[in-house]
Amino acid sequence: MLSNQQWTKELQDFHEELEAVNLGPLWASISAFNSVEPIAKPVPYLWKRELIDDKLDKAKTLLEVGVGSAERRAVFLINPGMKDLKPYGWGGTTQTLYAAVQAVNPGELAPPHRHTSAALRFVMKGRGGYGTVDGERITFEPGDYLITPDWSWHEHINEGEEPVIWMDCLDTPFIMAMNVSFTEFYPERRQPLTVPDDFSSRRYQGGMVRPVSDRQPKNIALGRYRWDLTKKALDGLSEFDPDPVEGYAVEYINPSTGRDADGRLGAWMQKLPPKFHGRAHRHVHTNVYHVYQGRGYTVMNGVRFDWSAGDFFAVPSWTWHEHVNLSDIQDAYLFSTNDIPMMEAFHFERQADYLENDGHQEVVDAFQPIMP
Ligand SMILES: [Fe+2]
Ligand SMILES: [Fe+2]
Repeated sequence: MLSNQQWTKELQDFHEELEAVNLGPLWASISAFNSVEPIAKPVPYLWKRELIDDKLDKAKTLLEVGVGSAERRAVFLINPGMKDLKPYGWGGTTQTLYAAVQAVNPGELAPPHRHTSAALRFVMKGRGGYGTVDGERITFEPGDYLITPDWSWHEHINEGEEPVIWMDCLDTPFIMAMNVSFTEFYPERRQPLTVPDDFSSRRYQGGMVRPVSDRQPKNIALGRYRWDLTKKALDGLSEFDPDPVEGYAVEYINPSTGRDADGRLGAWMQKLPPKFHGRAHRHVHTNVYHVYQGRGYTVMNGVRFDWSAGDFFAVPSWTWHEHVNLSDIQDAYLFSTNDIPMMEAFHFERQADYLENDGHQEVVDAFQPIMP
């Protein structure tokens, strides 16, 4: 809506006259279009593990995956600032990222489909699950990071004895905003396996070397990033001083190109050593964090968000934030997804360090999360 305060009655009437015929006066709107800084619709927010577990348990009693229209059993995280975008806030956890927690029970099969949105997964708990991505069966364990780039066929199967639960992150809000969503359903219950099981992770098990044939880059050079290897990388970094903002952090890359593992979605695993108190910064790119292990808090725009293992929180664009590990003896591990590849592709990315007060925000409030 236009603000009419500084305009004469005649001009105010003219603004209404324009609006009535679907036209607009730039002179009255220009400061909204050209904001001095980003004005994020999403707000800093945190979802507790207990709440998500409770709702996912209820969904388990109400739905069976693969039966009827229940293609997937996932509860997604809606940012309260995005709620007015229908349906369901376009799944917006931030402006660009959709995050969810998905459960597949023993014996269930979430059938194959593919879509324009890119998807990544972080395995939270449960063994015995696997996915098939473009003809490759990919097994996984807790702590693993998995990719399903856009338009790749994928299905999820649980042949174990316990529920398998993971975090999904897709670029759905971005895809919806761009009006480019396509989805296709595989005509059979399963897609055919076209390469040996765990083909990509077996080809890349050596670490920082690549098969010579991958000099021609592949979209899915590696489908699974094992937790033990990620942890080893963080252990190596931990032999040196931590970064004052991030602690110790690594990003998942496509080993055939050196670029992000997915073309549009980025992901990190970050370790905060005991008593770590990071300095604050802010950036245009947004994050959805999942607390894999540990206990601490993040200050976002002066509000303290306490977290523990299993929680999720959203960092919107241009939000001051700093991370703290509350433990004296244990490391905290934060998995996070981001939209850095999108922001960089459009030359949007910017970053600023918080320079006052030795890099620490004044804490003026504490966030009260919704509990079950
Ligand atoms: Fe999917
Ligand atoms: Fe950050």
